[in-house]
Amino acid sequence: MNEPSTAANDPTGSAAQKRPRLLQNGPLLPSLEAALDAAYDVHRLRTPAERAAFLAAPRAHGAFDGIVTSAAVGADAALIDAVPDARVIGSFGVGFDQIDQGAAVRRGLQVSYTPDVLNDCVADTAFLLLMDVARGASAADRFVRRGDWLKNRFPLTVKVSGKRLGIFGMGRIGRTIARRASGFDMEVHYHNRSPQPDSPYGYERSLTDLARWADFLVIAAAGGTGTRGLVSAEVLDALGPEGYLINISRGTVVDEPALVDALVNRRIAGAGLDVFEDEPNVPEALFALDNVVLLPHVASATHETRKAMGDLVAENLRSYFADGRLVTPVPWSAQADGRAAAA
Ligand code: 8YV
Repeated sequence: MNEPSTAANDPTGSAAQKRPRLLQNGPLLPSLEAALDAAYDVHRLRTPAERAAFLAAPRAHGAFDGIVTSAAVGADAALIDAVPDARVIGSFGVGFDQIDQGAAVRRGLQVSYTPDVLNDCVADTAFLLLMDVARGASAADRFVRRGDWLKNRFPLTVKVSGKRLGIFGMGRIGRTIARRASGFDMEVHYHNRSPQPDSPYGYERSLTDLARWADFLVIAAAGGTGTRGLVSAEVLDALGPEGYLINISRGTVVDEPALVDALVNRRIAGAGLDVFEDEPNVPEALFALDNVVLLPHVASATHETRKAMGDLVAENLRSYFADGRLVTPVPWSAQADGRAAAA
């Protein structure tokens, strides 16, 4: 693999004067775009049409040293292959399911993402959805605005404190959600590929067992082929008519038609959803249901957290172009010395 042209391995200093060229796939936070403009020459593909035009004649745009993108847009094999000189991908977001791992590994690319800085806001959103769907906050708000309070009482809802919280995916975000649960005196169990030896929470051997045990099942597992459709009709039936599903990870982890069917036919009590299989398209059958809270994928979308995510993208690229090392590489990113990282 070619070493990056860095200040560290270029004693003549010529690399320090040359601004690296980045290909940006999709729109990014304006403050991040401004920070990138200060250090790099950035060619932006903001829309699918711009991307298609670029892919039709990539060589016309010259060579690129890296790609900058987001969890939402990622980088597919066609884009990665269109920039053969690129050695690094900087991605805004903790999910990397939209980055073609096979193409990136084949090319020996270093790939960064933005873990940890969004744990708090994503965990807060899990509880926002959980509280809202159980206590009917959004439905009650609609009730007041419609003038229905003048005619009726809002129906009784479901207590949250002291209930059982099942977490599928006890990673960084899952653990942050579990810590929030202690403030609500909730018992926490979890399911992962394997039990975590240092976890104080009960381990359930299958997702179905976790769903059967839980009053609230929160999905915090990473997206991608390994988790596609794991929250199946069987899991939803195990959650049962008193159980609630909360999803703040990826829509693909849930069998969405099975979820819609379970909600419409009240085979589960309700759902709080920040993510969907084909965003921004949300199954229309959900719009009429008061036992569902729908958010437009905003779990990390606060000023503070998005700024921290943008800063971490910029810091990864700065570090890469300074000494060839990323601050927060994805688990399968190539190492600075060209060896593949342990998955
Ligand atoms: C963002 C996310 O909404 O970090 C992630 O993986 O899904 C979110 O924080 C977004 O997709 C970033 O592009």
